[in-house]
Amino acid sequence: MPVILRRGWEIPASQVTPEAAVMRRRSVLAGAAALGLLPALGARAQTADGSPAKRNLAFDAGRALTDEKDATTYNNYYEFSESKNLWRAAQALPQSPWTLEIAGLVKQPRKIALDDLFKQVEFEERIYRHRCVEAWAMTVPWTGFTLHQLVRLADPLGSAKFVVLETAQDKTMPGLNAPFYPFPYIEAVTIEEAANELAFISTGLYGKHLPPQNGGPIRLTLPWKYGFKSAKALVKISFTEKRPQTFWEQIQPSEYGFWANVNPTVPHPRWSQASERLLGSDDRVATQLFNGYAPFVAGLYTNLKTEKLYM
Ligand code: MTE
Repeated sequence: MPVILRRGWEIPASQVTPEAAVMRRRSVLAGAAALGLLPALGARAQTADGSPAKRNLAFDAGRALTDEKDATTYNNYYEFSESKNLWRAAQALPQSPWTLEIAGLVKQPRKIALDDLFKQVEFEERIYRHRCVEAWAMTVPWTGFTLHQLVRLADPLGSAKFVVLETAQDKTMPGLNAPFYPFPYIEAVTIEEAANELAFISTGLYGKHLPPQNGGPIRLTLPWKYGFKSAKALVKISFTEKRPQTFWEQIQPSEYGFWANVNPTVPHPRWSQASERLLGSDDRVATQLFNGYAPFVAGLYTNLKTEKLYM
């Protein structure tokens, strides 16, 4: 990514909230919500019947949660800014009503309102590690549903090989005026990757609506790939036979490829990927192959040895 690594995120370790403390705070909040002391959470952080999304314990992050404040105030979102400090500006992006277009190789191209979509999927909460290509990382609880459910609903034709996600271009986004970037932000995965159980559509964060700066109201979350694959503010899902050129691939194909699977032994051309800094702390930890999700996803790539899988 053509960005200079800034050191603004090097906050003392004392500011990191250990998971136990976060969970205590969450259970206090849940109790307060049950007593009617807090506004009810919207559908984006709930199951369809209004109850809070149940946490799926199949995915153990093995790390303390990142403090919510750090995860929601240090963001990458080039439509708003090249700076990490864009969360205030992003509040201007209207979150509702929101429509997702279903297009390309599908039985029936159409548009669906998010509120209608949310009635047709099963919500859950998952704690995932997130690894940015810039070598910082966070661990956060997402609410949402599997990408697989969205693909099934879109009903692609048998000829579809790629799932392409396009993101919003809105008048509230000052970064769209920068001449250098080929907006809209486009990301894509193979149809097999989209069917993997890890591939997730996030609509909530820390049990609340997904904040606009983190991609609200709806974003992609692919925890085994570098963070730039996890496109924010989705407005279109389409299906193609041909692999599209993704946003960062158009900008710098030698540094940001289509696959972008996390691998500590394959350095970025300009820096090492061997370790990562935990957001909100000075702690540096070893980066893991597929960001630690190899048991879930390594099988997707066994027949793709000639591809540049790790950039
Ligand atoms: N999606 C859009 N539409 N625009 C962006 O600039 N940045 C990506 C990804 N999704 C980006 C995007 C990058 S580089 C990362 S690391 C993650 O969002 C950051 O997500 P976060 O801000 O929620 O941590």
